[in-house]
Amino acid sequence: MTKVFINGEFLDEKDAKVSYEDRGYVFGDGIYEYIRVYEGKLFTVKEHFERFLRSADEIGLDLGYTVDELIDLVRQLLHQNNVKNGGIYIQATRGVAPRNHSFPIPSVKPVIMAFTKSYDRPYEDLDKGVFGVTTEDIRWLRCDIKSLNLLGNVLAKEYAVKYNATEAIQHRGETVTEGASSNVYAIKDGVIYTHPINNYILNGITRRVIKWVTDDYNIPFIEETFTVDFLKNADEVIISSTSAEVMPIIKLDGENINKGKVGPITRQLQEGFKKYIESHSI
Ligand code: PDD
Repeated sequence: MTKVFINGEFLDEKDAKVSYEDRGYVFGDGIYEYIRVYEGKLFTVKEHFERFLRSADEIGLDLGYTVDELIDLVRQLLHQNNVKNGGIYIQATRGVAPRNHSFPIPSVKPVIMAFTKSYDRPYEDLDKGVFGVTTEDIRWLRCDIKSLNLLGNVLAKEYAVKYNATEAIQHRGETVTEGASSNVYAIKDGVIYTHPINNYILNGITRRVIKWVTDDYNIPFIEETFTVDFLKNADEVIISSTSAEVMPIIKLDGENINKGKVGPITRQLQEGFKKYIESHSI
């Protein structure tokens, strides 16, 4: 039986229930992380939990866990569910209290929940690339917080599905921000461009790994905003996330990128990324 972690207990899936008054359920008042598992090991897990604690801090939530305790928790769940390749989802909400927008007084304990998923790396998509569409970014102004409020992202992703694309690439006015669940990069004349880290995007952990790879390969990594038009005229376009890794976009709004083929810098980044899987999984 698959186990789910809820508030200190590893429960059978069928017994894993939360209250109707959980503030995550009622308000989306909480935060989450999604961590990748390769060959039974956690990839860049410290970075993920440092971001988790930062998100908690930004919404005034005291989780009562350290990074090491969180690593220990998810590792136990991983073993119980015997996950070899896949991922772990973990979320924390502000807890259970009568519905009232402001924080509960007295404060209640956060509800922490985690579950696992088993699946392989997306080999075929990594090899062939996927399609993207562009859409206006209608989200709030704290996209740096990995919050449970994902309605803007959900609607963007559904827009992508409607147009047979894998990812919706969002833009505020002319400025490209990020994907519905990924960071976005334009590669032009051997230089890689991506949105700077600020409140308009999530500080992706995969983005960080890509930055390490560009350092290794001496590829200039420019953290500056660019326009939709620049992206459409790029030599190569990629998105990155914990589940998508370094994913090529070969068609954007129905127009080919690099004649619909995965480009050479994308291949280098994928190659370099693979090395980090080996060196940064514990
Ligand atoms: N999403 N931007 C957004 C809006 C995201 O939702 C994600 C990841 C990223 C990439 O972050 P990272 O490289 O740390 O995974 C960027 C995860 C995978 C999710 O929602 O499941």
